[in-house]
Amino acid sequence: MRNIKHLAIPSLIAFAASVSAAQADKLTFYCSAQEEWCQLMARSFEDASGIDVNMTRKSSGETFAQIKAESSNPKGDVWWGGTGDPHLQAAEEDLTEPYVSPMRSELHDWAISQAESAGDKTIGIYSGALGYGYNTDLLAANNLPEPACWKDLLKPEYKGHVQMANPNSSGTAYTTLATMVQLFGEDEGFDFMKGLHANINQYTKSGSAPIKAAGRGENTIGIVFMHDAVAQAVSGFPVKVVAPCEGTGYEIGSMSIIKGARNMEEAKQFYDWALSADAQNLALQVKAFQVPSNKGAETSESAPDMSLIKLIDYDFKTYGSSDERKRLLQKWDEEVSTLPQ
Ligand code: G6P
Repeated sequence: MRNIKHLAIPSLIAFAASVSAAQADKLTFYCSAQEEWCQLMARSFEDASGIDVNMTRKSSGETFAQIKAESSNPKGDVWWGGTGDPHLQAAEEDLTEPYVSPMRSELHDWAISQAESAGDKTIGIYSGALGYGYNTDLLAANNLPEPACWKDLLKPEYKGHVQMANPNSSGTAYTTLATMVQLFGEDEGFDFMKGLHANINQYTKSGSAPIKAAGRGENTIGIVFMHDAVAQAVSGFPVKVVAPCEGTGYEIGSMSIIKGARNMEEAKQFYDWALSADAQNLALQVKAFQVPSNKGAETSESAPDMSLIKLIDYDFKTYGSSDERKRLLQKWDEEVSTLPQ
């Protein structure tokens, strides 16, 4: 009080303004799901809570790298969406905060297992199977056969027609790499990635970009989560969705609170809200066809039926571990990305 008494009037006004600014509820939200869904989540949480949200969308691997780079002075509060592997790596590297939400009892077992395997530092918010989609008009115009398996994508006639993201930036593409290693074994999996490289026209930063490009007629085949290909098809683009014949991997899209979050209470409020059936139902407004983790949330009829897809027993513990993710990405950088095309 003594100090305040001695402040001149303008400084007192500035002091009061700074106190109220510090008290204004806000949340810095890092989002790794599709842009439209990120925006809708940010706006809807603002409406539901009165908290101001500052949202940035970046791919899963990029957000992991940003949180790691900022760890001595964290800027983000909550990280929602994106594949589970980098969330698990963040948990292992102690970049995220343990939290047990009262909403947990409403979730499917697969979402809770994700939390339990990471000391409660992350949790499952949706799941979706990997696959690919193709533009049927472009396929026909180029006299290309209809692909049905992963190995079909190695055929020389598809040269320049296949697009995927870079596994360093994109969780979708890392899931692709880890899936091939699990499906075919490490040597054959890397041989597959090398063969595929010869047919790739571009490695994009974001995971869903290749199928958006196919929808626009700028690319023929995009390796993506099947729900991202479905989103293009239901939007009226000539895109066919493929569940590859050999079987495929899947993601548990995840959410984590950033360690040292400046707005920890707001982050927890967002976290609880994001696990509710109502918040998860927002997905349907933006054609996000993942399977929601809240048992009471709706799954669209257009969503790929996971029970009909041949899924591998994806080993999240191993492929979400810091050592393995770093090792596989480095090997891909050195042995695949450097090959001539
Ligand atoms: C798309 C998918 C999500 C996935 C995300 C990962 O948005 O719909 O299910 O989690 O991609 O994004 P990234 O850019 O990291 O591959």
